[in-house]
Amino acid sequence: MTTEEFRHVPVMLDEVLSELDPKPGEVVCDCTLGGAGHSVELARRVAPEGLSLGIDQDDVALRAATERLAREVPEASVRLLKGNFGDLDDLLVEAEVPGVDCFLFDLGVSSPQLDTPERGFSFHEDAPLDMRMSGNNTLTAAEVVNTYNEADLTRILRVYGDERFAGRIARRIVERRAKAPVETTLELVDCVKQAIPAAARRHGGHPARRTFQALRIEVNHELDVLDRGLRAAVRWANPGGRICVISYHSLEDRIVKHVFSELSQGCTCPPDLPVCVCGHVPILDVRTRRPLVATDEEVAANPRSRSALMRVAVRLEA
Ligand SMILES: C[S@@+](CC[C@H](N)C(=O)[O-])C[C@H]1O[C@@H](n2cnc3c(N)ncnc32)[C@H](O)[C@@H]1O
Repeated sequence: MTTEEFRHVPVMLDEVLSELDPKPGEVVCDCTLGGAGHSVELARRVAPEGLSLGIDQDDVALRAATERLAREVPEASVRLLKGNFGDLDDLLVEAEVPGVDCFLFDLGVSSPQLDTPERGFSFHEDAPLDMRMSGNNTLTAAEVVNTYNEADLTRILRVYGDERFAGRIARRIVERRAKAPVETTLELVDCVKQAIPAAARRHGGHPARRTFQALRIEVNHELDVLDRGLRAAVRWANPGGRICVISYHSLEDRIVKHVFSELSQGCTCPPDLPVCVCGHVPILDVRTRRPLVATDEEVAANPRSRSALMRVAVRLEA
């Protein structure tokens, strides 16, 4: 896929640039490179002495981003790494950088990933139930749907999808797969539609949206890797370094809020203790008590930005 074909409009780009404020000579790390929509602008600002690192686990995104960065910011020093940002420590060791000034996480899938039916992310197109963001991942959505027990399916749909009909959908999947495995996206959509009462199907967007979101999170271990990646970013951030995360659903945002708040806490010892025994020292200054959201103009121009929630923190000296 060429850059022209890899169409993904970067979300909250102005806010990313003003919050991260990348300066000439700095090191930036885009942990979710995608089509480099944010990275081209970050690279432009730190070039030519600075370094732009970009991470993605998707070969198609890496190829499109490599081409775009070379064409649009030839003066920039760029290093792109294939991997999962859950392994950020190893990736940054590989990149041989002593520290990073700006980290960006723009979570989830890109528009081209959603729009490529064979990837199995879309509930509009028929395709094998895959949903892996990386070929290195062995778990597929088909495996989850056809092998997890009813209780686990219900839990995943309820917790990761916030699906109120989780139990009914899980039961329908289990009944259906007893006859034949659920192998395609539209077979799964069919199960969901049969499980949800007709009145509920008329509201709140596509009835399978929450089920697909839940399976994607499970298949790609999205919440675990976010917690790990974020903590690693805080460790690697230079003093004064900025970390910006854009989430697209409340579970992700809750993890970002929790990690930021935990690492910005000082001593938590009871006030009557004469000396601190907990050893907590704040290492982050959280810049966003509440998440920033996209402007009305951006939402009108790019519907994907509607659910974006941005949080920003700055690494302290400690
Ligand atoms: C929303 S898109 C990023 C779009 C990019 N900011 C742009 O404007 O072009 C998210 C990208 O991050 C990648 N991604 C998601 N989770 C990842 C993870 N845990 N490790 C590495 N890459 C990940 C996806 O493959 C996808 O290409």
